[in-house]
Amino acid sequence: MNRLAGKVALVTGAGRGIGAAIARAFAREGAAVVLAELDGETAERTANEIAATVDGARVLAVPTDVTQPASVERAVKTAEDRFGALGVLVNNAGINVFCDPLTMTDADWRRCFAVDLDGVWHGCRAALPGMVERGAGSIINIASTHSFKIIPGCFPYPVAKHGVIGLTRALGIEYAPRNVRVNAIAPGYIETNLTREWWDNQPDPAAARQATLDLQPMKRIGQPEEVAMTAVFLASDEATFINASCITVDGGRSALYHD
Ligand SMILES: NC(=O)c1ccc[n+]([C@@H]2O[C@H](COP(=O)([O-])OP(=O)(O)OC[C@H]3O[C@@H](n4cnc5c(N)ncnc54)[C@H](O)[C@@H]3O)[C@@H](O)[C@H]2O)c1
Repeated sequence: MNRLAGKVALVTGAGRGIGAAIARAFAREGAAVVLAELDGETAERTANEIAATVDGARVLAVPTDVTQPASVERAVKTAEDRFGALGVLVNNAGINVFCDPLTMTDADWRRCFAVDLDGVWHGCRAALPGMVERGAGSIINIASTHSFKIIPGCFPYPVAKHGVIGLTRALGIEYAPRNVRVNAIAPGYIETNLTREWWDNQPDPAAARQATLDLQPMKRIGQPEEVAMTAVFLASDEATFINASCITVDGGRSALYHD
């Protein structure tokens, strides 16, 4: 408890799934948290749930579209006006865009990059000036095992997620002298709506789910809280020499060469 006491954090896409779990875990560890989420209703619901269940929680929902730089800048400003200087940013908002490369539309390509890569950059650009000026900050980008592994038919999501690792490493090096750390987390299969929706869109959802479980060394997929605790670590002063790195949270799946 209180591993993040005194810190102010902003988590994008925090209305549900991994982002909501991160916001909850941050609040439990004593951070003031802004949920910067496209869907104002889920953001409000999650913020209320955190306020009701975490003693002394300081939490605020701010409708935000990470594809729009001005929207993200507004969210950062709101966070700072309400709680003080932003010390932690989690760029978590992301969407699955899974296409066949040659039948994919230009709109699909742009939709994917607008959220999964531009959105991460917009968050960094909004938060970095203050962090650099104060000489303190931790940015955590939610990448994916798609950041270094390829599954056919998932184009262009892995292209954008590879970019998230490049962005993390470049900014981590750029601002290391100012004590701003930029790291990534690469989740494997985590049980959220994103994963459930993917299973539900397969011809046989139950078989697709079972096939996913069978592929996992631990014979289960991960829970959002297991990603959230890694984010707590990277946000905390326990991780002060970890920079420009990526921590994989996939139960070992990406280390497996063959079933
Ligand atoms: N679930 C997994 O297995 C998995 C695995 C690897 C990586 N990831 C990554 O983790 C992150 C969270 O995924 P999740 O599974 O919790 O997804 P999710 O769909 O459950 O939640 C994503 C949230 O982001 C919000 N969002 C979408 N577009 C946005 C925008 N333009 N601006 C602000 N918010 C927006 C959504 O409204 C939603 O609340 C994503 O970056 C995803 O790529 C997920």
